Amino acid sequence: MPYTIPKGTHDISGDEAFCYREIEELLQTLAHNYGYMEMRTPIFEQTELFTRSVGESSDVVRKEMYTFEDKGGRSMTLRPELTAGIMRSIVSNKLYTNPDLPIKSWYLGPIFRYERPQAGRYRQFSQFGIEVVGVDSPYYDAEVIFLGYSALKMLGFGNIELRINSLGDKESRDQYRVALKEYFKDHINEMCEDCQKRYEINPLRILDCKVPEDQEIAKNAPVLRDYLSSSAKEYFQFILNILDNYEIPYVVDDNLVRGLDYYSQVVFEFHYTSNNGKYLGAVGAGGHYDNLLAEVGGPKLSGVGLAFGIERIYNLLKEDGILDNKLENFDLTIMPLSDNCLPVAFDLAVFLRGSGYRVDIAYNVKSMKQQFKRAERKLSPLAIIVGEDELDNNQIIIRDLNQKTQINVNINEVLTVIDNIFNGHENEHQCCCHEHEDECHEHNGHHCCSKHHHEEE
Ligand code: HAM
Repeated sequence: MPYTIPKGTHDISGDEAFCYREIEELLQTLAHNYGYMEMRTPIFEQTELFTRSVGESSDVVRKEMYTFEDKGGRSMTLRPELTAGIMRSIVSNKLYTNPDLPIKSWYLGPIFRYERPQAGRYRQFSQFGIEVVGVDSPYYDAEVIFLGYSALKMLGFGNIELRINSLGDKESRDQYRVALKEYFKDHINEMCEDCQKRYEINPLRILDCKVPEDQEIAKNAPVLRDYLSSSAKEYFQFILNILDNYEIPYVVDDNLVRGLDYYSQVVFEFHYTSNNGKYLGAVGAGGHYDNLLAEVGGPKLSGVGLAFGIERIYNLLKEDGILDNKLENFDLTIMPLSDNCLPVAFDLAVFLRGSGYRVDIAYNVKSMKQQFKRAERKLSPLAIIVGEDELDNNQIIIRDLNQKTQINVNINEVLTVIDNIFNGHENEHQCCCHEHEDECHEHNGHHCCSKHHHEEE
C-alpha cells in the first residue's frame, strides 16, 4: 500500500524548490547586509520553554504543539516558532556577555503547528526570521520593520499592508486587562469556551477570537490605545515617525494583539492580497519583547524580531506570476553519440563541472533528436556533442542551441571557448592548486585543476 504524505505537510521539488531557495537566499543576503549572524537551534526543545515563553494562553501552546515524551521520560516539543529557541540559545551560550550588544541573529528552518490545514496554513512550514536582543532602542524596532518591508519589496510584492499597534509596557497592559475584564464580565458566559478560558488567563487574547458572535461582542470593548502610558505612547510615536520619514505605509490597528504572549510595546504584521484576490493571512509578523530573555533564564534584556512564512511568500509570488520565469537551467548539456564516446564525455563532464559549470549528461545514449529535446527541457544554452568522427581528430562540437550555430573545437580548447562564450572575453586563469599552477583554470570563482587535459596538450 502506498504511503501518503502527512496531512498539512507538502513536498517541494524541482523548480518549486529552486524558487524557495531564491526566496531564502534573498532574505539571508539582506539580513547579512544588515549585520545579522546566522543561528541554528534544535528542531525540538523542552516543552516548558514554549509554555513559559509563547504562553499558556496562546492557541499555539494550548492546542497546536507536537509534544512527545522522549525515551528518558522528558517532555519535548517540536518547535512551534523559533524566537523562544533563539532566546534559549542566547542564554545557554551566554551570548549576552558579548561586548557588542545587541545580538543580531537570523534563522531559517521548519516549524510545526498542529493547525487545521487550509490555504496558506500548514502543519510543517518554514520560517525565516530575525531577532535583535540586548539594546532597548526604538531605532531597532524601526530597523526590523524596515528590513521586513524592504525584503517584501525586493521579493516583488506590490501593495504590502503593514498593520501596526502598540501593546504598551506592562503597566499599560495591566490596566487594560482590568478594563477588559470589567467589559467582558457581563458577556463572558455567552462567549465560546476558548474565550472563557482566555478571560481567566489573558483577556487580551479574546480580541484574537475568530468566532463571529464573539467578535461582535468584542467590537465595543475598550481599546488599548487609551490605556497606554505616556512613555509607551512616545515610544510608539517615535517608530511611526521613522516609518513616515521613510515613506513606509502602515495602518494602526487597535485590535492587533498577536497570538503569542511574549510581546510588549510595538507589534506588527505584513499582509498581502494577490492581484486575483488571494489572501493567506499574514506573510510575516513580529514585535518587541521586554521579558522574554529573562523568562527563559537570562538577564533582563529586551528584544525585537519578526518572522516570515516562506510558504505564504512563495504561494503569493507564484499566484502573481512573479516566479514564472524562475527556472533552474543547466549551462551545458554534453551529448555522447555512442557508447564509445562515453569515456571522453564523462571526462569532459568531470572537467567542466570542476571548472564551475552546471553540466547535464545522460549516460544511457539516446538518439541525437532525443538528446536535443532533453537539452531543451534542461534549458541549456549550449550543447557539447561528442561524436566518434570528431574524436578521431581530437575534436568535439559546441552547438549554440538558441542561435542554432555550431563550431568544431579542439578538445583541449573546450574550456577556453566556453569561457569566452559565457563571459565574452578570455578568462584569466588563476590557480588554487600550487602543485601545477599553470595547469589550472578559474571560472566564476571556482578553481579547477585540469592537469589531465594539460597533459594531452
Ligand atoms: P507568527 O505570527 O506566529 O509569529 O508566525 C510568523 C509567520 O509564520 C506568519 O506571519 C505566517 O506567515 C507564518 N505562519 C504561521 N503559521 C503558519 C502556518 N500554519 N502555515 C504556514 N505559515 C504560517 C512568530 O512565529 C513569531 N516567532 C515572530 C516573531 C519573531 N516575533 C518576534 N520575533
